[in-house]
Amino acid sequence: MFSKWSIQLKYSLIFILTLALIIAGLFIGIYNLKTAQLRNEAMASAEQVIAFRAWVANTGVVWVDHLAPGFRDFLGKRANHDNTMEFFSKNPALATRELSDIVSKTATRATFRVTSDEYRNPANAPDRFENAAIQAFKANRDVKYNDAYEGAFYRYAQPILVKESCLKCHGDPKDAPADVIAKYGDKRAFGYKVGDVRGIISVKLPDITLIDVLRTFLNPYTLGLIVLAFLLNFLYTHQSIIMRLKKLAQTTERIAQGELGLTLQDKPDSRDEVDHVQHAVGLLRNSVVVAMKRLQKTLS
Ligand code: HEC
Repeated sequence: MFSKWSIQLKYSLIFILTLALIIAGLFIGIYNLKTAQLRNEAMASAEQVIAFRAWVANTGVVWVDHLAPGFRDFLGKRANHDNTMEFFSKNPALATRELSDIVSKTATRATFRVTSDEYRNPANAPDRFENAAIQAFKANRDVKYNDAYEGAFYRYAQPILVKESCLKCHGDPKDAPADVIAKYGDKRAFGYKVGDVRGIISVKLPDITLIDVLRTFLNPYTLGLIVLAFLLNFLYTHQSIIMRLKKLAQTTERIAQGELGLTLQDKPDSRDEVDHVQHAVGLLRNSVVVAMKRLQKTLS
């Protein structure tokens, strides 16, 4: 069935097929790379949260002189000596939760939240993925992160371990500031030791879709290089094989029609197959010449 197709057409199809296979290979590679890419992005996001939290925890709590709209939660309240000003304290978790809210509203990609199996604030309750991650970290302290794909999102979690500076509010309730006891009681989220898994930082990122990966190929450089590769292959097969074969076919036909004197370029040392065919045609032509001479001799 392929006899109706020219070598050029067949070769072009093979070229396109080869290209498609290579692109499919690259595609799978890039697609596999995406988890590593998303994980790095989530880790970078989590590290910033940890740094921010550590900054607040190292100072104990941060005091603010007024509560911004939408961020009205606070741990404790103090007035200055003549009662003309009020200050509000924000503990590390609260400050982090407010940061998380701001990020959720403004971020184009990564959003995060801090949660725990022993949450003091119901707004911090973990979801299914987060619960599973907390259990995994508790079961094995060597697990550094947990991740999964969920719908159109990549989910990532990293443990928050208890440090010395946390014990004031998460160790023995007796040591806890009165503000903490007053607001959350002395039951929840106490009794931790240094190194315990206190909770997790949970990061959510939009998944990288196949369309996103495809878009990386649709740039002028990649497309230009593909066109260049096609032109190179096309020109090579056209000039170096097809044109020479056509010429050889014409010459051979003319020889067959009796033009035995035609010169055929002969390169006996060439390793090029078209040259071999040309050489073979030359030999055939010579045999025909000899046979004709013999025939003429016998006839005359
Ligand atoms: C000044 C007291 C204080 C200190 C110090 C403190 N925490 Fe907390 N922590 C709290 C309070 C109060 C909450 C309740 C959360 C809220 O209001 O969102 C909380 C909540 C949390 C939560 C979130 C889950 C929940 O209960 O809602 C985690 C995780 C957490 N703390 C970890 C830590 C770690 C780790 C440290 C040390 C680096 C630390 N905390 C230091 C007071 C403190």
